[in-house]
Amino acid sequence: MLKKEEIIKNIARLKREKKAISLAHYYQESEVQDIADFVGDSLVLAQWAAKTTADVIVLCGVHFMGETAKILSPEKRVFIPDMEAGCSLADSCPADAFEAFVKAHPDYTVISYVNTTAAVKALTDIVVTSSNAKLIVDSLPRDEKIIFGPDKNLGGYINRLTGRNMLLWDGGCHVHERFSVERLVDLKKMHPSALVLAHPECPGNLLQMADHVGSTSSILQFATRSKNEKFIVVTEPGILHQMRLANPGKVFIPARPVDSDTNCNECSYMKLNTLEKVYLCLENERPEIFIDEALRVKAVKPIERMLEISAKHGL
Ligand code: 13P
Ligand code: SF4
Repeated sequence: MLKKEEIIKNIARLKREKKAISLAHYYQESEVQDIADFVGDSLVLAQWAAKTTADVIVLCGVHFMGETAKILSPEKRVFIPDMEAGCSLADSCPADAFEAFVKAHPDYTVISYVNTTAAVKALTDIVVTSSNAKLIVDSLPRDEKIIFGPDKNLGGYINRLTGRNMLLWDGGCHVHERFSVERLVDLKKMHPSALVLAHPECPGNLLQMADHVGSTSSILQFATRSKNEKFIVVTEPGILHQMRLANPGKVFIPARPVDSDTNCNECSYMKLNTLEKVYLCLENERPEIFIDEALRVKAVKPIERMLEISAKHGL
């Protein structure tokens, strides 16, 4: 096996030779983030995929992120380090069941979280991420009937924020649903000065305890701008890497899952990607994302609508 320094050198060489860039989500291993050309949340990764002039994108995230990049940039080759890097939230919304739900509500506008397959996006009017979900819902008339899928926690949070009554798909992320309220109460007792920062994929009882609720980039920005010194972070702990880099003097404590034998609540899908797999996928040019063109044409429209509304509001 190659040493870490050699792998890093090879990745840099292959990127130059193949005119490739790597985009990494905040939940990736620190070393995968460190060699990335851009690190960001789901929205930023989609925006970069749409605008890059590179020939090749290595999307260091999960499958739906690679798919979104390919939908937006079909002329580019898109690789992901591990084809098994799925998403429990996307899995909680099979396209055939979602299609039946949408057909049963013909007068509803369909909003889907980006954590969905291309087939679900193709059934959708507007895609959202956790960064822009409120903004996009707010952009629709007050009396518009809306289906929101697949994350019932994010949808419920947006319903509470906006006073809407969107019809929610019953899906969720196994990582964010696994955080323990009791262990969060204990952490707060141990660190009374800490502010609680939570991702809106968490259930409502956890969000109620948060001082700030937002996407990964919003949590990072909040901690960076805050004068507070200590934070309990209720999302996948990969985000702590950028939080610590941007805030060397501050203390970040990961929230605990319900499983009492571990203090760590990682997304096993995100963590399938390793530095070595990034190197191997650049070297071997696989695994590669392919999408049927007829499906892509349907799936790109709601993503472009999201990007247009976001750009209009400076996101
Ligand atoms: P954001 O990147 O929008 O914060 O979402 C987190 C997530 O679950 C990605 O899978
Ligand atoms: Fe999917 Fe949850 Fe993992 Fe994000 S953290 S990729 S929503 S399973």
